[in-house]
Amino acid sequence: MKVVLLSCLFVLISPLVLAQGQALHDESCLQCHASISGGDANSLYTRTNHKVTTFPALQKRVKGCAVAADANWSNEQRAMVVKYLSETFYKF
Ligand code: HEC
Repeated sequence: MKVVLLSCLFVLISPLVLAQGQALHDESCLQCHASISGGDANSLYTRTNHKVTTFPALQKRVKGCAVAADANWSNEQRAMVVKYLSETFYKF
């Protein structure tokens, strides 16, 4: 029973985490990436020679870029953005 409840909770929460991660990302990160990539900001993550190739490298990069973006996120917010990028683009 407990397991069933927990997995229901996960199914409900997961899309919310992704949506919130995307909202945080789009607010703080899109603009600069758009200017580097010539408009299509998210192509930075999907270009064939993208720099980030592992989950820990993604965590590190998001942490560093959050400083550049002056985002002032909590650890939970940063984790949501990592999850959003990982599941949507990198597929780690
Ligand atoms: C002030 C500009 C700037 C801002 C703001 C910024 N970035 Fe970046 N980001 C860069 C640059 C520059 C690169 C490296 C591009 C390259 O290597 O060609 C980069 C690359 C990345 C990559 C690696 C892409 C790859 O090649 O795999 C990730 C992930 C990333 N940024 C995440 C973020 C996140 C998350 C935010 C928001 C908190 C953010 N960035 C905000 C400038 C920025």
